[in-house]
Amino acid sequence: MQDELVHPVPKNRMAALDGAHLNGDITAFSAPTTPTSTGSPGPVSAEVYFATHVAPKSLPENAERIRTFVDKHMKEGRRVVLVTSGGTTVPLETLTVRFIDNFSAGTRGATSAEYFLEQGYAVIFMHRQFSLQPYTRHYSHARNCFLDFMEADEQGIHVCLIPIFTSNAKSFLVMPSYVEKMRTILHKYKSTQKAGTLLSLDFVTVNDYLFLLRAAAQIISKMDVHAMYYLAAAVSDFFIPRDKMSEHKIQSGDGLLSLTMDQVPKILKPLVNDWTPNAFIVSFKLETDEALLPMKSRQALKRYGHQIVIGNILTTRKRLVSLVTLEDVAEIRLTQNEDEVQHIEIESRIVPELIRRHTQWIEACGTRGECG
Ligand code: PMT
Repeated sequence: MQDELVHPVPKNRMAALDGAHLNGDITAFSAPTTPTSTGSPGPVSAEVYFATHVAPKSLPENAERIRTFVDKHMKEGRRVVLVTSGGTTVPLETLTVRFIDNFSAGTRGATSAEYFLEQGYAVIFMHRQFSLQPYTRHYSHARNCFLDFMEADEQGIHVCLIPIFTSNAKSFLVMPSYVEKMRTILHKYKSTQKAGTLLSLDFVTVNDYLFLLRAAAQIISKMDVHAMYYLAAAVSDFFIPRDKMSEHKIQSGDGLLSLTMDQVPKILKPLVNDWTPNAFIVSFKLETDEALLPMKSRQALKRYGHQIVIGNILTTRKRLVSLVTLEDVAEIRLTQNEDEVQHIEIESRIVPELIRRHTQWIEACGTRGECG
């Protein structure tokens, strides 16, 4: 198990790594790269990446949890969706003081996971540590702090209120105006826990993410067409390979810092072709320039051969997305009233549509005897 998942840096590369530590020179050594048509080095293949980087320590344990989860839901005849959520970090030092991050709070992933659970899917929720999570997202520390919804009950009497925590002496009560919403969320949260349909796994760095996604996909592949991937995480496109990274905190005494970063391997390619060939795979494409989005979405579909790209623009992503396939483009758009007055979440429209298409995929695969 361990051998299958952990890929230590080969000895000759470790020697180079030691040299880098001594020099404190983060650009001293190069990873093998593939030249592009423009002559600049392209990303290493996923294969080379995994052979030259070290798996996170938690990987064997997480793989075991995924295996148990998938076996349970296969036996119970439930479909499984792997939702990725939140952003990955790129450490600048091995003993990390500084890292590069991105904006994603994990709203898309956490919200979508709730709708998948509601529709009967078992959800593997692969998320950035401390990013938003299904159900608790409604009461995060930054927005809707749960403490603002509670008050102490001096007498310990509960009239029209839900006691949600009791100490020996007193109770803490949810204030009446918040009770109904909290009761609904609490009920869903507890029911999900009871049914065991949500497995949460976290990552921090892009390296954690890549190893975990690969391990998960290799296990989930036994679900064949009954698995869906919903890749909403904002994954770094650039990173500093292990053999170019400074071990210790980069010192400011030497003046300006220039960083050269390698491209992260395009993980969708092996995911679609090798790790989980018959699954229904949905990736996201985020752009800030509207003019680029249709072309980039179609390019991804052609390049990787998966089923759907969901295109979204940073500033409008909560009220407009495009579901792009090679055949057509379908927009899901909230009206201003739905968005601002009714507070409808766009994920409540995206997820049922994807499930409808996943069902079609399963049926079509069954008819043809194979997918793709
Ligand atoms: O979390 P929120 O604040 O709600 O924001 C949601 C979101 C905007 C982050 C989400 O809707 C979204 O668009 N996520 C994908 C963002 C992204 O990383 O896009 P990309 O163009 O870099 O990557 C495209 C796809 O390729 C992604 O699905 C990713 O899983 C995949 N990828 C990315 C990098 C990489 N090395 N290999 C990959 O396969």
